[in-house]
Amino acid sequence: MIILKTPEEIEYIKQACRLTADTLEMLTKAIKPGVSTLELDRLAEEYIRSHGGVPSCKGYCGFPATICASVNDVVVHGIPNAKTKLRNGDVISIDLVAAVNGYQGDSAITVPVGHVKPAVTKLLKVTEESLFKGIEQAVPGNHIGDISHAVQTYCEGFGYGVVRDFVGHGLGRDMHEDPQIPNYGSAGHGPKIKPGMVLCIEPMITMGTYEVEVLRDDWTTVTLDGKPAAHFEHTIVITENGPEILTMRSKPRLID
Ligand code: MF3
Ligand code: CO
Repeated sequence: MIILKTPEEIEYIKQACRLTADTLEMLTKAIKPGVSTLELDRLAEEYIRSHGGVPSCKGYCGFPATICASVNDVVVHGIPNAKTKLRNGDVISIDLVAAVNGYQGDSAITVPVGHVKPAVTKLLKVTEESLFKGIEQAVPGNHIGDISHAVQTYCEGFGYGVVRDFVGHGLGRDMHEDPQIPNYGSAGHGPKIKPGMVLCIEPMITMGTYEVEVLRDDWTTVTLDGKPAAHFEHTIVITENGPEILTMRSKPRLID
């Protein structure tokens, strides 16, 4: 069941999304060679709590941390740890959910560490662009499949893999609500998009195969071919006039 949000609920979601975006922005400044993913996690938790929020991933289905920190071939759900220190040329995806007053905000970015190979920078850029292609389709009267189709065709046009095993979602009091929003699919299919829907669109795109594997910790999800992956996510609200991005950062695009 898709829960349409009232204006009051949307105000709460906006606050959570603001904190989520600000936390990501703070983290991008801390990302440099030598920093461990655990240090980034501590910074994120401290920032969220000191601004009146709650880190929603911590304890969610047993996930032990505030952020998902996914380096290079880790697509999603990397567990922050002291051993994983960022190196020049890495890329790190950070996915973060913060709650304020019981409502959630959800956003993800993939950030280059130091100097990254041009082919990898391109993957990041295209993945971020595909998120905006998806958002453009999120207008009343369109269908969820229009979002999926836009993301898929854009990324596959560059020869990239579109991950199937994880999808975007609705959001509200819960981090994951209906509808599911795959990053692949047919235009015109799926639920109709209506004002009051709050949606998280999150392309997970790889430089090779779209096949992924979950490691024995039950979380860390890697590409089967070991090639790098990128992940960008925004929470949006559908208005009569189209989509409004709630997790916008001060610089709209991470990759120029
Ligand atoms: N933020 C993720 C999403 O986009 C969920 C994180 S999984 C968790 O749906 F278990 F760590 F919370
Ligand atoms: Co999400």
